[in-house]
Amino acid sequence: MSDRYLAFANSGLGHWLTGTLGMPQPVPIDRDPQRIARTALLADAGGGRLLPQLTEELRALDVALVDGGDMPGFDALLVDASGCRTVADTDALYRVLHGHIRAIAANGRILLLTTDPAEAPDAEAAAIWRGLEGLARSLGKEARRAIAVQLVHVPLSAPAALSSSLAFLLSGRSAYVSGQVIRIGAAPLSLPETPRQRVVLVTGASRGIGAAIASCFARQGAHVVGLDVPAAEPVLREQAARLGGSALALDLTAEDAPARIAEDAATHGGYDVVVHNAGITRDKTIARMDPGRWDAVMAVNLAAPMRITAALLAAGQIRHGGRIVAVSSLSGIAGNMGQTNYALSKAGVIGWVERLARDVAPLGITANAVAPGFIETQMTAAIPFLIREAGRRMNAMGQGGQPEDVAEAIAWLADPASGGINGEVVRVCGQSLLGA
Ligand SMILES: NC(=O)c1ccc[n+]([C@@H]2O[C@H](COP(=O)([O-])OP(=O)(O)OC[C@H]3O[C@@H](n4cnc5c(N)ncnc54)[C@H](O)[C@@H]3O)[C@@H](O)[C@H]2O)c1
Repeated sequence: MSDRYLAFANSGLGHWLTGTLGMPQPVPIDRDPQRIARTALLADAGGGRLLPQLTEELRALDVALVDGGDMPGFDALLVDASGCRTVADTDALYRVLHGHIRAIAANGRILLLTTDPAEAPDAEAAAIWRGLEGLARSLGKEARRAIAVQLVHVPLSAPAALSSSLAFLLSGRSAYVSGQVIRIGAAPLSLPETPRQRVVLVTGASRGIGAAIASCFARQGAHVVGLDVPAAEPVLREQAARLGGSALALDLTAEDAPARIAEDAATHGGYDVVVHNAGITRDKTIARMDPGRWDAVMAVNLAAPMRITAALLAAGQIRHGGRIVAVSSLSGIAGNMGQTNYALSKAGVIGWVERLARDVAPLGITANAVAPGFIETQMTAAIPFLIREAGRRMNAMGQGGQPEDVAEAIAWLADPASGGINGEVVRVCGQSLLGA
């Protein structure tokens, strides 16, 4: 749905009025999927080891490296903070950020790169590497102008499989992902595969975020199997015809759903990607909640993804190099009044994916989750005006996300080159103030 405040705040009179009154001034987000940073400043804060790899990766993406002194208005600032290990070293970090943050163009990107504090050689390095999380999140709140900021953790000893992640994080596809810690490991060894059209199962595909996910994968050339409830079959069929995919109308909670899905997968020679997107809310405070609401949410949001994945894995119908991506929610991270059932199910999805990631890694498969914040869909359009406005504005971007934002994050995690990301949860929330 349209965001009238965003349009008003960006009109001549509206910009002046909101500025004068000290009201939020969100900048329109440029989510053009084809847009990638054209210019980047690559800075070293403390003698890090990542500059050679980053230089090569940026060259492969056709991103021109600039010298901050002569190029105000560059699109991305990448800071190698891997060598920043002592309190004294943070001075280099301060100088890079203080000197350049104003020169980053609107809709630009800041990426800080370091290593997980768990791998730190000593306590002081652990403190600094953990400290970068606070720094990145604060930068995300200060940068404004729709600039997204991430902290990227790479392994200490092996080169990280960065290509698909840099392509995503420096593009319009990551416009609503900000304030995240993204762990990217080394690429797992994979067997050579015969290239084929990827087959992607998307549950809850008939509308909202699921429809955007289906379109996103189809645009990338995949065959999308769109699954939704039997009542949505006409919509699914129309969608399948439009996207050149196929439709699977069934209730995910039915006894025979896992077997039917495994059968469908077999007709395609297995799925390459499984996106567990279908979800429902049945809100009431716990004291007022009837058992039906509780059970329905557990069945759709938590039991179904687990049963279906187990059946697909048992039947060998998720191919080598496969990707499982589940849709969690900010509610599962921050909790939400009236959503004890939903929050349990969505936090449960996170716990499941974190564990599943370990179990499927030997099969060359990854399992990750996205946790959307406030996304403009039919679901959020039904929220009363004042609560909706609060939900929309309470993030560093000052506006709601679009279903495409979630779809693009899922497509990135499902990329064949994203094998170094496993067991992660990435929030698509414009750096929401909730659960931060
Ligand atoms: N919209 C948001 O702001 C938001 C925020 C966080 C998380 N999410 C999550 O994103 C996902 C998609 O949300 P949405 O806003 O597009 O919701 P939506 O209600 O528009 O779409 C959900 C789809 O799932 C399908 N579905 C529900 N139960 C099913 C079942 N038993 N079998 C088969 N299909 C079933 C529905 O028919 C529907 O098409 C959900 O998991 C939701 O919890 C949404």
